[in-house]
Amino acid sequence: MSPQPLWLRCEKKEFERRSALTPTTAKKLIDAGFEISVERDEQRIFDDSEFEAVGCTLVENNSWPSAPTNVPIIGLKELPESDDPLPHTHIQFAHCYKKQAGWASVLSRFHRGNGTLYDLEFLTDASGRRVAAFGYHAGFAGAAAGALALAAKRQGKKLGRLEPFENEDAMVKGVQDTLGGSAKGVKALVIGALGRCGRGAVDLFRKIGLDEADIIKWDMAETAKGGPFQEILDVDIFVNCIYLSSSIPPFLTYDSISAAGDRRRLSVIVDVSCDTTNPFNPIPVYSVNTTFSNPTVPVDLQGDLPPLCVVSIDHLPTLLPREASEQFSSDLLPSLLELPQRQTARVWTDAEELYKTKLAEAVQALNQ
Ligand SMILES: NC(=O)c1ccc[n+]([C@@H]2O[C@H](COP(=O)([O-])OP(=O)(O)OC[C@H]3O[C@@H](n4cnc5c(N)ncnc54)[C@H](O)[C@@H]3O)[C@@H](O)[C@H]2O)c1
Repeated sequence: MSPQPLWLRCEKKEFERRSALTPTTAKKLIDAGFEISVERDEQRIFDDSEFEAVGCTLVENNSWPSAPTNVPIIGLKELPESDDPLPHTHIQFAHCYKKQAGWASVLSRFHRGNGTLYDLEFLTDASGRRVAAFGYHAGFAGAAAGALALAAKRQGKKLGRLEPFENEDAMVKGVQDTLGGSAKGVKALVIGALGRCGRGAVDLFRKIGLDEADIIKWDMAETAKGGPFQEILDVDIFVNCIYLSSSIPPFLTYDSISAAGDRRRLSVIVDVSCDTTNPFNPIPVYSVNTTFSNPTVPVDLQGDLPPLCVVSIDHLPTLLPREASEQFSSDLLPSLLELPQRQTARVWTDAEELYKTKLAEAVQALNQ
């Protein structure tokens, strides 16, 4: 059997340092008979030489358009905007299946080029759960940003620009140092604690030194009684990690915050879920997504109340590009190993079926 080619393209989205393949997963693919080309990319958290060392062939940055059309191209984020037809098979997050801005034009590029899109967001296992997602490190990094915001507040400051950390240990140490050595005594509540993001948030709090009893973990059972919840106002940091799928009572409101007056302990809300503009957002006390350069937004409270801020960054795993890539890529690996059988392997046939459905919708929308 001839080797399965796969081409790791560069990322062109600003600040994106993550990678869909890592030297670890590339090596496992090569051992399984893949031939991997890797575009040189200074933006990527992994050095080009790390890929070369495991047997990948380095190719020029952004040269995938000239790759043979039988070579699948893998990347993470959207391709730069263009009208050019796409003749290759692309494996990536394309953010065009939920009718996002420009969705039909993106799909029409595949249509005109006779290419195929396997959207990473929609690669699912037999039970419908995503095979690979970035949740854990979103929660981990979100909790860290929350602890840093608390430290800033204690010093009478506002949290400044956040930069990606080299690895988890550096993040943990950075947070501990900023909090004066340890986070002992800090109290946190994580909602959605049984999910991917929630588990990451709980782990960060453990690693920076919170007592187990000071990490309150809630999931469906605890919120079933319906909010708003006083318990949220009685901790220093609240991290929301739920997967919102329907209308639920709010977890806290302007009124519940005001009613607590200056007895409120809560200083920082981290909304990892970031359902910011969703009409069912259970944290209806802010309305914008924050950014790495300006990570917090104040909750607009009337009267003389202690300040409260929200971290609502929607690409948190970028703060831990190396580990986030390693986890995502290793979760994706079993599916990638089935790529040579993609005409019959369920994960790929389902993804192709969905692509064809979305493509038909796009063609119809463009012809209207
Ligand atoms: N900000 C970011 O950078 C970022 C990155 C990745 C994911 N996310 C978002 O984080 C959210 C969670 O993702 P995930 O991968 O952890 O999902 P997940 O499905 O693994 O976990 C969600 C958890 O929320 C719980 N939950 C759902 N509704 C609840 C409720 N009403 N009360 C209490 N618990 C509830 C579920 O039981 C589950 O344990 C998603 O909205 C996802 O889009 C954000």
